[in-house]
Amino acid sequence: MDLPKGLAGVVIADTAISSTKNDMLTYAGYPITELIANNVPYEAVVFLLWHQRLPTNAELKNFRAALFAEMGLAPDFLDTLKKISKIQRHPMSLLRTSVSFLGSTESKAESNATAIQAKMLMIVAMIVRLRAGKKPLKARRKLDFAGNFVYLLTGKVPSAAENDLFNKVLLLHADHEFNASTFTARVAASTNADEYSCLTAAICALKGPLHGGANEQVYLLLDGIRSSGQTVAEYLDSRLANHEKIMGFGHRIYKHGDPRAFYLHDYAKIMAQHYDQMALFNLAEAVAAYMWQTKQLKPNVDFYAAIIYHCLGVPHDIFTPIFAISRTAGWLAHIREQKAASYLIRPSSHYTGVYDKKVPSELQLSDLTPRSFKQEGGAAL
Ligand code: COA
Repeated sequence: MDLPKGLAGVVIADTAISSTKNDMLTYAGYPITELIANNVPYEAVVFLLWHQRLPTNAELKNFRAALFAEMGLAPDFLDTLKKISKIQRHPMSLLRTSVSFLGSTESKAESNATAIQAKMLMIVAMIVRLRAGKKPLKARRKLDFAGNFVYLLTGKVPSAAENDLFNKVLLLHADHEFNASTFTARVAASTNADEYSCLTAAICALKGPLHGGANEQVYLLLDGIRSSGQTVAEYLDSRLANHEKIMGFGHRIYKHGDPRAFYLHDYAKIMAQHYDQMALFNLAEAVAAYMWQTKQLKPNVDFYAAIIYHCLGVPHDIFTPIFAISRTAGWLAHIREQKAASYLIRPSSHYTGVYDKKVPSELQLSDLTPRSFKQEGGAAL
């Protein structure tokens, strides 16, 4: 049976949240080019995804204040996070467990999208601080979401230019129609599971290197080339000959280039110039040129994001959790939309096995159970 591999090209539901039609990412009708050109704050993008309209100035002010009010974590939660961080090493595992745990500690009144959006940032920032043996920082009222993002993760208040750049980076990652993690969240939402369960499922899907986990792998790739002593061509050829995927290249939807990568390329260059990382940026450019020359594949969202986060100075295994902070906006919008649609997502499979097998009598499997019905004489209930 000729099935579309991995649901490629299969439209599975209506959505008014975002679109990738004509190779352009659009949030509720606004192309990302329009949002970027107008310096729309990330909070306004979150509002847009949740309400399918931009906020008024007053609404934006209130929403920003509401987010700020939720930028804290309960002491009990922090204690547990400290204990788990000794067992779970990868921050995405820690984030997954933390969000699941948050769902069991938050009261129903607190489980709202605004709180979750703010706490996602706090959890990732906390993981960074805990691992560095540092005390958690308090969010600053005067900073917007992007400013607090940089401050809480790095401990330094960003310049206006850096604040603006990270606002755009968050904006570009906020949603992406039915990507793997959003689809996963929608499947969980379709069963009427609570928001935290849906988000935990989404984080599990984002973690994989074929999805959000790619940004960490991009840095490891560039670092691998640097330390290999090989040329870019030698390094990539040996991997391609082995049928390995080169992380940060290719896309299920965009076959002519990822519109987000177009912006992230420029932001990565600005960051690399500022933080003296042009050697890394130039190496990335050489990798991109070689991938185009040999495979006609272009960089996706994760390729240049890796350079930006590296310049920010966060550990490489924090790259994917950063993606999760921003994508929470989209996940929550889709969870809400799917719940409102109120139907179960349950596709069908094409079974490739055989039917009507018989249990071989010589196996006598029922005799191996501790208390078998046969051994006890087949007594009545
Ligand atoms: N490196 C090397 N080859 C790649 C590639 C990559 N990053 N991405 C795609 N290809 C090749 C495949 O090997 C395949 O070649 P073939 O036809 O000779 O078998 C062809 O391009 C089509 O790839 P396919 O995996 O079927 O495309 P897809 O639409 O299913 O996959 C991705 C999209 C994103 C899963 C895939 O491009 C990938 O794994 N990229 C690397 C991981 C990554 O950066 N993920 C983040 C995505 S935003």
